[in-house]
Amino acid sequence: MKVLDKKIEFNDGNFIPQVGLGTSKLTKQSGIVDSIAAAIKEGYRHIDTAQIYGNQNQLAEAIKKTNINRKELFITSKIWNSDHAYSDAVKAIDRILEELELDYIDLLLVHWPTPKRLECWKALEEAVEAGKVKSIGISNFLEEHIDELMKVAKIKPVINQFELHPALPCHSLVEHCRKNNIVVESWGTLIRGKCFEVEQIVELAKKYNKTPAQICLRWAYQLGYVVIPKSSKPERVVDNSNFGDFELTKEDMDYISTIKEYRDGPDPNNFEF
Ligand SMILES: NC(=O)c1ccc[n+]([C@@H]2O[C@H](COP(=O)([O-])OP(=O)(O)OC[C@H]3O[C@@H](n4cnc5c(N)ncnc54)[C@H](OP(=O)(O)O)[C@@H]3O)[C@@H](O)[C@H]2O)c1
Repeated sequence: MKVLDKKIEFNDGNFIPQVGLGTSKLTKQSGIVDSIAAAIKEGYRHIDTAQIYGNQNQLAEAIKKTNINRKELFITSKIWNSDHAYSDAVKAIDRILEELELDYIDLLLVHWPTPKRLECWKALEEAVEAGKVKSIGISNFLEEHIDELMKVAKIKPVINQFELHPALPCHSLVEHCRKNNIVVESWGTLIRGKCFEVEQIVELAKKYNKTPAQICLRWAYQLGYVVIPKSSKPERVVDNSNFGDFELTKEDMDYISTIKEYRDGPDPNNFEF
């Protein structure tokens, strides 16, 4: 089976393609049309965006140009932090639908665990009941945020998307998600483009005759994580789905765990909301 065809089941019975395309910083100026065209042609059916990326209109245009049937696509968006108060979140959901030109969103996430995260969750639950959203989840939530939400949620989160890559393996958060039946999704899987700078990854790329990006993606895929590598370059979009023809050995997975820990993005422990 091609990695692009592999799906993971959520706790609500819906399925997510395990490999998708990230779109942060992807705009008309930086090649969104060509990236999306290459992705759809290659067989990607899962696309990740967010209000804060400011590209939802452009993404809708780029998707339309491919003539793909909407039902074949799995689209994720996220409610930005300044819209987490209940009434703002309700309005944000309608704005996202409008910008993406969709009548439902496959997966909608709370982008960061702001102080108003539970109000935002209530708006998400209502959007599911209203048929505007199929599945709801969280992003950048830590163990304590998950525990708090699990206590009050009428609909449980299906997924947690957080910075997760060979240099930030987040063992205890991954285990906590799995204990709560929450799918784990990695952002920054390519160490946000810095995979070329990590000795162990470069060494394994030579050994397997693959690119450093493909080694990182294979690592995450073997661990069962959803991945959404982003590239503005069509040839990289294609390459980033070409990691189904090899398997990292147990020894090489262990070797990857010797990488010195490094966080590239903001730390949810010290995020200024
Ligand atoms: N929930 C959150 O808070 C959150 C935060 C960050 C990201 N995300 C999501 O996760 C997605 C992925 O994360 P990310 O974009 O930060 O990082 P990423 O996918 O790990 O890395 C993207 C970077 O790697 C480069 N790249 C892509 N393919 C490559 C290849 N084959 N070889 C070498 N370099 C390559 C890209 O440059 P080029 O474009 O020039 O190829 C870009 O600079 C985002 O696009 C977004 O959808 C979510």
